[in-house]
Amino acid sequence: AKNMLWGGRFTQGLDPLMVQYNTSLPYDRIFYSQDIAGSIAFARANLNNDILTQLEFDAIEKGLNQVKEEWANNTFEIQEDDEDIHTANERRLSEIVGKDIGGKLHTGRSRNEQIATDMRLWLRDELRKMEGFLEGLVECSVSRAEAEIDVLMPGYTHLQKAQPVRWSHFLLSHAVTFSLELVRLRELIPRVNRSPLGCGALAGNPFNIDRHAMAKELGFDSLLPNSMAAVADRDFVFETMQWGSSLMLKISRWAEDLIIYSSLEFGFVRLADAYSTGSSLMPQKKNADSLELLRGKSGRAFGQMAGLFATIKGLPTTYNKDLQESVEPMLDHIKTVGDSIQIATGVLSTLTIFPEKMMAALAPEMLATEFADYLVRKGVPFREGHHISGRVVALAEKENVPMDKLSLEQLKGIDSRLGDDVVECLDYERAVELKNATGGTSKSAVREQIELLRKELAGK
Ligand code: ARG
Repeated sequence: AKNMLWGGRFTQGLDPLMVQYNTSLPYDRIFYSQDIAGSIAFARANLNNDILTQLEFDAIEKGLNQVKEEWANNTFEIQEDDEDIHTANERRLSEIVGKDIGGKLHTGRSRNEQIATDMRLWLRDELRKMEGFLEGLVECSVSRAEAEIDVLMPGYTHLQKAQPVRWSHFLLSHAVTFSLELVRLRELIPRVNRSPLGCGALAGNPFNIDRHAMAKELGFDSLLPNSMAAVADRDFVFETMQWGSSLMLKISRWAEDLIIYSSLEFGFVRLADAYSTGSSLMPQKKNADSLELLRGKSGRAFGQMAGLFATIKGLPTTYNKDLQESVEPMLDHIKTVGDSIQIATGVLSTLTIFPEKMMAALAPEMLATEFADYLVRKGVPFREGHHISGRVVALAEKENVPMDKLSLEQLKGIDSRLGDDVVECLDYERAVELKNATGGTSKSAVREQIELLRKELAGK
């Protein structure tokens, strides 16, 4: 420990397992370019503060760029005392430019502000990629909905056949929840993209560093206003995980629907080979592994969120090493959610649908409500209409025939107000088209939704 960056007051070395236990370099090296960009901005601000001379700044900037190249080319040689990405970069810089100059970089700076800066810069960029992925998923749902608007399917409640709907309406029922997550994500990014740089270990910077200039150089939207809060804060990770968990929950339910619809019993959809796998034992199997993984990985995402809450909840104010435990879950969360959105988009864009199977699954009983609505249009109170229609269903059941095979005489026998025109109730397309109030499943109402989503995609 004597050789560590902070080793001045230490006389004995670290226990070897403690070295491994403590080091974060194996995962925080992913932030090497953010860490170096932050250091260059920090050095420039200290040049403008007269802490560094132009010569020193130039040497530091050049040296740091060389360190970055080494990481990029995989030639950076990690040493045993490289505790984390910040110490590794500074150690290497000093080797390149000499300790007299390298030793000035950290003036007034703490790794507490560095890690928060690195994480926020990295996360901001990842979330921007995520925005693109999610737009892709919504766009894919919307264009399928538009192209396949004529296809009808059974709509379910309690997983029981309920009323006919458009396949497009089903697709959009998921797309609208995905697009809500898109709106949330767009709101979240500026809250992640705030600068802790210049906050020091907890109390602030003693050399009147220009935090605004550094933030501007790094592309931050704003400054964190309190130095103690800035180094203590992992809200940006929480909020990302709350968002990611909420999105994964939506993706999981979507996946579950498609798992059901892809089963042989339903046969409404078939996954492309690219997103299915077979069985090592049963040659006939084609399993929807992609969808099952989407469902399964949602549990992992929720766990990361709950885990981070538990890690943070009892911490005393400002920085504690526990906060290092926010890094790995964040990295995994982003990978899980980012991959999941792309897999979901891949599944949907290559999915085959079987409209005739969906049609065949429609049952006349799903039109029972149409009988009640028919009576309502003749002035019968809905509650009474519902009862009469229920007797039609019961008679069909008793006669052991589908509802549409009852004769007009049988229908009239139940209630004389069931006139000759009642057969129009037995038309699925008509039933769907009647649901034309905003938000419904008629063609015009579905097209309204498509337009709304397109506007949202365009960020309007
Ligand atoms: N590796 C540390 C982390 O990820 C950096 C901050 C270390 N600061 C400290 N005072 N020990 O949180």
